[in-house]
Amino acid sequence: MPVAFAPCLLAANWKMNMDHLQTLEFIRELSLLLPEKEAEGSGVEMAIFPPFTSLRTAQVFSASYRCPLSLGAQDVSPHPSGAFTGEVSASMLSRLGCKFVLVGHSESRKNHHETREELVGKVKNAIACRITPILCVGEKEKSVEGLEEICSQAEEVFCDLDPEERGKVIVSYEPVWAIGSSVTASPDIIRRAAGALESDLFGKFGASPKILYGGSVNERNIESLKGLGLGGFLVGRAGLNPAEFASIFRCLAGKE
Ligand code: 13P
Repeated sequence: MPVAFAPCLLAANWKMNMDHLQTLEFIRELSLLLPEKEAEGSGVEMAIFPPFTSLRTAQVFSASYRCPLSLGAQDVSPHPSGAFTGEVSASMLSRLGCKFVLVGHSESRKNHHETREELVGKVKNAIACRITPILCVGEKEKSVEGLEEICSQAEEVFCDLDPEERGKVIVSYEPVWAIGSSVTASPDIIRRAAGALESDLFGKFGASPKILYGGSVNERNIESLKGLGLGGFLVGRAGLNPAEFASIFRCLAGKE
């Protein structure tokens, strides 16, 4: 059975924030701010990506508080199981209720020196466990060469996937210069990047992945970005605060 998605995904990458008690508190507050029936039929799927240590708390308490959240992990091993100290497999994430996993976030690329083969392995293992990989791509500097950089980051993974796998990947455009800064990419830059990724991946592989944007999205700028026709947004800092996360949800769901 194919995995079902709402038309718009609002995903919160918590990075190395939120221990299990803070995760519990976030879910409790969000469930008060956004009752389950408000999210139902909104066309917007909310997902949180806590650290590994908070996934079980998020799984248990989003169910018990009836908080309308999907779960994702921030990384996954490129190997299915075995002697890989410190790594977490896709099947373990699947058993914790993860529907998504980030692959190749610019912070992981930089800090863990991920190779192309590892990125491909992560994507393949996630898909084999019915987890949707969100492949992050982004140019380091704001420049005209940026489009080539992001297309080649996507291509180098897509070229090793089979057609069925290609249809199961989400791509997130996250310019490195916009992450953690005070500026988001302009609507024009995002439109150009999403267009370049779409035509490149369709032209070379016949793939039409959902495209997200991430990089300093918040409750003040979401209004200017929501009309871009993207598949959703991957927020960082703005996803750590339940009130701001709920307000971004309401803007995307057209409830404000
Ligand atoms: P910020 O929203 O804090 O810039 O982080 C974005 C990000 O890295 C999402 O993956």
